[in-house]
Amino acid sequence: MNVKKLAGEKAVEFVKEGMIIGLGTGSTAYWTVQKLGELVKNGLNIKGIPTSKSTEKLALEMNIPLVSFSDVNHIDITIDGADEINPTLDLIKGGGGALLREKIVAFASKKLVVVADESKCVKKLGSFPLPVEITPFGYEVTKREIQKLKCHTKLRKINKNEAFITDNRNYILDCYFESIIDPLHLHTKLNLIPGVVENGLFVNMTDQVIIGYNDGKVKVLDK
Ligand code: 5RP
Repeated sequence: MNVKKLAGEKAVEFVKEGMIIGLGTGSTAYWTVQKLGELVKNGLNIKGIPTSKSTEKLALEMNIPLVSFSDVNHIDITIDGADEINPTLDLIKGGGGALLREKIVAFASKKLVVVADESKCVKKLGSFPLPVEITPFGYEVTKREIQKLKCHTKLRKINKNEAFITDNRNYILDCYFESIIDPLHLHTKLNLIPGVVENGLFVNMTDQVIIGYNDGKVKVLDK
């Protein structure tokens, strides 16, 4: 059973005619975009704003009309995946490296709906390494300052010698904390460090979470 598909497809129930929709990134949001494509084919009128180049490509393949922030000043709903979800619906995102665009799109949205399989639900954030997007210039300085927050870091790579480059031409530093006790505090600390562009903590942003369970059930959790 494809649990990600169950959750991803369920999310389109939140979509209404005429909406501007933030299109998430990853293997769960993929199913949302696929389903939206089907609905568009059958006459639904929506417009999308993708959170990554890969989602943009997928949306174009599905003939979903796209807009940018120069065309619209709000988004009705964003549907996106997550790497970890705690009981207050705070998130770690950025496993796919799209966290900056994902956060901008979520921030501009009236509503953020997260789609995930049950493995993403945790009591405390931090088992998944926290992705932090940083500028390549001076990244050693930025890295050392982040390490002072009591984590060890790994520069994300695509192979032994090449760094992963985000859609915004930055690096990702994956940060291993023992656990993240106060996500808002850590988020604020990280974003004050020069060279940090954004971090993968999404605090007080999520409105609803749709969880797919291995037994085939799907639940909607409200804030
Ligand atoms: C990409 C993300 C994804 O939403 C997150 O990694 C979850 O992905 P998946 O649905 O493939 O498990 O934050 O930057």
